[in-house]
Amino acid sequence: MSKRILVIQGHPDPERQHFCHALADAYSQGARAEGHTVKEIEVAALDFPWLRSAEEFEKGNPPPDIKSAQNAIEEADHLVFIYPLWLGDMPAILKAFLEQTFRPGFVTDSGEGMDTISTARRLKGISARIVVTMGMPGFFYRFFYRMHSLKSFKRNILQFCGIRPVKTMTIGMSGGSEVKREQWLKRLQGCGRQGI
Ligand SMILES: Cc1cc2nc3c(=O)[nH]c(=O)nc-3n(C[C@H](O)[C@H](O)[C@H](O)COP(=O)(O)O)c2cc1C
Repeated sequence: MSKRILVIQGHPDPERQHFCHALADAYSQGARAEGHTVKEIEVAALDFPWLRSAEEFEKGNPPPDIKSAQNAIEEADHLVFIYPLWLGDMPAILKAFLEQTFRPGFVTDSGEGMDTISTARRLKGISARIVVTMGMPGFFYRFFYRMHSLKSFKRNILQFCGIRPVKTMTIGMSGGSEVKREQWLKRLQGCGRQGI
């Protein structure tokens, strides 16, 4: 079954010469080859301010680029987030994008606060994959750091909004040697083909 897939590139550098961009391209290429529809959002290329208050979060009007991103998310069956680990977490620009985008009025039917557990999740039915690259070995992030930031993103943001299942992929040593990088790109292409 063909899916509508949205790839969200969270690398802060819009120049597109990083491994994260190669991973996104590999995923999209695989997905399109199997007939999935792929849209891409380059967070670094969007125009939006910092979100600065609860009032803005709960009652404000999202800027046009954020509104377009919300529409693209709503229309998708599957989201793919790709970003490098920066200071143990997602880069600030991606977090700023999530704060702008995943507002109560967007993720819940009632528009009530994110702390209202019983509120209907509008994004139910969408699945996701999170792909994180990092300088340290992947096993170190998984076992020593216990993937805290990744688990928080998965559970406290995506699953909280009804998005599931959420699969994760940690790519240590920024992909490793050329040979290893090629293997990662092939893996991403394979995930794209399967739309997972
Ligand atoms: C500001 C900054 C902070 C970083 N913090 C971490 C970190 O906390 N842990 C880690 O393993 N790698 C860290 N790195 C390395 C990046 O994760 C690595 O360069 C990136 O995954 C490579 O992917 P790219 O080629 O797509 O940029 C950091 C890099 C930068 C520039």
